[in-house]
Amino acid sequence: MIFDDPMGKLWWIVERGLFVEEKQSAYYGQYYTPLQELEQEVLQWLRSLVDTYAEQAGETPVEHIRSRIKTADGMKEKLHKKGFATDADSALSHISDIVGFRLVTHFVGEVYDIVDSMRRDGRYRIVKEKDYIAAPKPNGYRSYHVILECPFPVAQAGKIQIEVQLRTIAMDCWASLEHEMKYKKHIDNVELIERELKRCAGEMASTDLTMQTLRDMIRKE
Ligand code: GTP
Ligand code: MG
Repeated sequence: MIFDDPMGKLWWIVERGLFVEEKQSAYYGQYYTPLQELEQEVLQWLRSLVDTYAEQAGETPVEHIRSRIKTADGMKEKLHKKGFATDADSALSHISDIVGFRLVTHFVGEVYDIVDSMRRDGRYRIVKEKDYIAAPKPNGYRSYHVILECPFPVAQAGKIQIEVQLRTIAMDCWASLEHEMKYKKHIDNVELIERELKRCAGEMASTDLTMQTLRDMIRKE
């Protein structure tokens, strides 16, 4: 009955966090600290782009930014699925989201504005862009993905790829729900749920556009 005890729950969370951290550190080995340093460096860069934008626009475009280093288990599973060796060196050379960032904006236009400022700043080379907003995935998923190349001297190649996902609060809300569903194994009515989720994605996208239009109207006044 650990959850009736607030301190017990707190410890459970702390211990679980430490456990993941230990597993990551064991898996990524010599690369782990440099990966954490890169995570902080890119986070600061993204924050500075957002701050500059906010100063010019007079309001902040971003609800929140999150970052993570992929867990050891998640990485091994992904490498295995793709048919690669599952060690850290293999991850560094084959996987583009060992370090991942998610930048959540208020409005759709801000996604494109921030991608523009990433491009103009040019600190990291943009390797690939996937616009799942203009062309949503068949299930309704919407986001803008940018793959960047960062210097990473400790790796054999001297560089590493990282992923930045940009989306609105509405797109983020949808993706969280859909993600949760994907990992629940035994669901009845899968087809109905998938169809309804897709309909929600469309409705949320249309709400996003209306909100953007309202914001533009308010700004002009
Ligand atoms: P992988 O990184 O191997 O998946 O390569 P990919 O070419 O399929 O990349 P893609 O850009 O499609 O997806 C990368 C990441 O975007 C995933 O790890 C998820 O975080 C997110 N993503 C992509 N599709 C979906 C989706 O249908 N639902 C949700 N919730 N997230 C998605
Ligand atoms: Mg994928």
